[in-house]
Amino acid sequence: MVLEYLVLYQSESGNTKKLAATIFSHLPGNSKDLIDITTNKTIPEARIYFIGFGVRCGTCSMTVSDFLNDLSGKCIALFGTCGMGDSPEYYSAIAQSASAWIESDNAYLGAFICQGKMPQKVRQKYEAMRTAENSAQMDMCIRNFDEALTHPDSLDFEHAKVFVNKILKKIEAEEY
Ligand SMILES: Cc1cc2nc3c(=O)[nH]c(=O)nc-3n(C[C@H](O)[C@H](O)[C@H](O)COP(=O)(O)O)c2cc1C
Repeated sequence: MVLEYLVLYQSESGNTKKLAATIFSHLPGNSKDLIDITTNKTIPEARIYFIGFGVRCGTCSMTVSDFLNDLSGKCIALFGTCGMGDSPEYYSAIAQSASAWIESDNAYLGAFICQGKMPQKVRQKYEAMRTAENSAQMDMCIRNFDEALTHPDSLDFEHAKVFVNKILKKIEAEEY
């Protein structure tokens, strides 16, 4: 049986998992599933995929890129969380690099990226790296780290729902 929607995600510290759960619960009907891509659970086939990842080195992991690359004839939307906050340019660069794995016989519908909290050791690294010469830059990194601590937050979840609505409208309008 082919599902209508499949929400797949990779999430090491749980940020993207929260986004995935929000997206999943916002999808209509019962023909849907929510699966952690790194578990050994068999992944069912679907018509529409929402595929999420925690950003690593500016993009998705190979587990996610391999999965994306294997899809054919599907509707695909991406979502993710990253440490960097409030940077549409960075978010679109992430979306671009991850979506590059999607073959052209699929319909790529867009991506939603928001900020997600980072491990405490990242802040400790910034503090250790801070010198008189780089203090302005490091202080900015530390401010961004502190900002990230509450994300993804309720507003991010609302934005994710708006994203889902947009994707559903697109699918309807384009008659995929
Ligand atoms: C090894 C590692 C690499 C990361 N690389 C980036 C990065 O390149 N850009 C960024 O903005 N955040 C980066 N982050 C922060 C994570 O993307 C962010 O905390 C994300 O919300 C984690 O999602 P998850 O909990 O779903 O795994 C990195 C975190 C780790 C642990």
